Amino acid sequence: MTPKRPLVIAHRGASAYAPENTLAAFELAVLQGADMLEFDLHLSSDDQPVIIHDDTLERTTTGTGPVRHLSLRELKRLDAGSWRGHAFRGQRLQSLQEVLERFRERVGFAVELKAGSSRYPGIEDRVVSLLEIYDVVERAIVLSFDFAALAAVRARNAGVRRVALIEGVRVPENITAVVPEGTTAVGLSARLVTERRVHAARRAGLDLYVFTVNDPARMGRLIDWEVTGIITDTPDVLRRHLRVSET
Ligand code: G3P
Ligand code: MG
Repeated sequence: MTPKRPLVIAHRGASAYAPENTLAAFELAVLQGADMLEFDLHLSSDDQPVIIHDDTLERTTTGTGPVRHLSLRELKRLDAGSWRGHAFRGQRLQSLQEVLERFRERVGFAVELKAGSSRYPGIEDRVVSLLEIYDVVERAIVLSFDFAALAAVRARNAGVRRVALIEGVRVPENITAVVPEGTTAVGLSARLVTERRVHAARRAGLDLYVFTVNDPARMGRLIDWEVTGIITDTPDVLRRHLRVSET
């Protein structure tokens, strides 16, 4: 029997090679054969879901201060590429809408809510609405460390696949103990992946995603364990690995 191969999920795009969460990184990820683009969301001051990892602008843009303090129009003026080199100058922050519109026919989406309504009122509704409008519910997963946000997504549209993210030091071997009832998929930090945890997830019938894996040897083990998806900065490396393990 051919083993089920894991989904190749590009962490913030092909972020090993291009500025994370930009079109440059997303286009490259598609070119490298990613099945899904992973990206992170915060809300702008005018309540638009914007793709950026940190809640502040300093690290990856020419702006300063919290993302939440600027409107989408103001955020679009910032440069989100030059911190990774001259060749990427002019890359812009993207709204969720822009990315769904551009890539909807080409790739799936792993949408990470950095926070739910407790911090960004109504974000779950906005995100689910956009997934519905662009008709990508089937090809999307929504991930979060914020389990209340996942519950709100479920309440809004139970057909949206949700992934409870887990990291930290006090995680038991039986990971089902730390996720809410009704969870169907977990995303485990690579640091926490052990064969026992993988089996615990499988026994409970959970889909299992692992982040962030760039080491080929580790990729190999996860492929053998038939995890559902591997989130990586190097989709090309994972793709190559999959080709080798399929032959
Ligand atoms: O979506 C999984 C992974 O991206 C979570 O970690 O900090 O890279 O968003 P982080
Ligand atoms: Mg993320």
